[in-house]
Amino acid sequence: MEMLDELQQLTAKTMEKVDVAKQYDTIRELGKGTYGRVDLAIHKVRGTKMALKFLRKKTTKQKSFLQEYCISRYLSACPYIIGMYDIAFETEEYYVFAQEYAVAGDLFDIIPPQVGLSEHTTKRCIYQVALALDYLHNRKLVHRDIKPENILIFDKECRKVKLSDFGMTRIAGTTEKRVSGTIPYTAPELCEMSKHSGFLVNHSIDVWAFGVLLFCMMTGNFPWEKALHLDSFYYEFLQWQRYKSAAIPSQWRRFSPHALKMFSKLLSIEPEKRCAIKDVFWYFGKTWLVNKDDSPTPDAKTNGDVFVQIKPPSLPFSGGEALSSNKTDTSPSLSFSSCSSYEDVPKENNANAMLGSTPIEICV
Ligand SMILES: Nc1ncnc2c1ncn2[C@@H]1O[C@H](COP(=O)(O)OP(=O)(O)O)[C@@H](O)[C@H]1O
Ligand SMILES: [Mg+2]
Repeated sequence: MEMLDELQQLTAKTMEKVDVAKQYDTIRELGKGTYGRVDLAIHKVRGTKMALKFLRKKTTKQKSFLQEYCISRYLSACPYIIGMYDIAFETEEYYVFAQEYAVAGDLFDIIPPQVGLSEHTTKRCIYQVALALDYLHNRKLVHRDIKPENILIFDKECRKVKLSDFGMTRIAGTTEKRVSGTIPYTAPELCEMSKHSGFLVNHSIDVWAFGVLLFCMMTGNFPWEKALHLDSFYYEFLQWQRYKSAAIPSQWRRFSPHALKMFSKLLSIEPEKRCAIKDVFWYFGKTWLVNKDDSPTPDAKTNGDVFVQIKPPSLPFSGGEALSSNKTDTSPSLSFSSCSSYEDVPKENNANAMLGSTPIEICV
């Protein structure tokens, strides 16, 4: 950790002002958020394609930028973590660093909504994510923002995937303010905390998010909107976990007993009882879905079940209508803004509410 401090100080001293247009040809935007943006660019001298992450100075302190850049560099030796170039600079408006370009984008874009990925592809992908997380946890770091948008892919079959976005990464055992919004990946102990109160950063929050991520990948749905009692999907899960005699909630019935055991360890309600990431490796030799032919799981609509679902904004809503923020309020869906870690997005528990851009929906 001292090494990280030194790297940050050294970077701060050597960081130059750069005219991006003089040194890079910008090809296109790869991602955008409240933080700034990520552009695909070609370094004019090296001729290399790179992803340039721009963090707006107005909203990002130099210290936070240095921390993200240096932690990313420190971890990038792992083959399952995004590679970094030794490039960090500033412009009038932005702090910028350069990353390896992931040609196929991020995992969010390839999960078919309400269907999910095949067991084979899920295992191939999640195995690499588990190795990346284990690497990070062994170095006493906690990612704190595990979700499909932060898993970059190099091919649609997920043969090569890498964990990315270390903007929220912190050292385990430090106290942090709970400033980020509640998203489906947020562990229950964090959901219950009041905003701005302090909590001890622990690996168990990544383990929980990993469990939710796995569910999302295999179903194309979220298991719940928030891990809070007032969320009926979560409450049903909670009752089932507490009283094993309770019926398995419908959205969990597609999983094999081995997969359900793995989920109950990853999604253990009490953080201290949650397993370590390395404990999932044992389950890779087992079947995870009940229908063994590895065909996609059935559509949620076919059996009348109700799911919290993932829906990329560009895909048509069932019924053929393109999903957009001006969709009529007769649609049986709730949508809410992208789960950005940098903002607390207000969400309403109202089935007709439309709140901005909509990568995620609950459909009844
Ligand atoms: N190296 C990269 N290669 C390809 N796409 C990227 C790369 N880095 C980021 N992106 C895209 O940009 C999005 C935002 O980048 P990210 O680093 O996660 O920013 P933020 O901190 O705002 O979440 C990602 O979800 C991904 O779609
Ligand atoms: Mg991100």
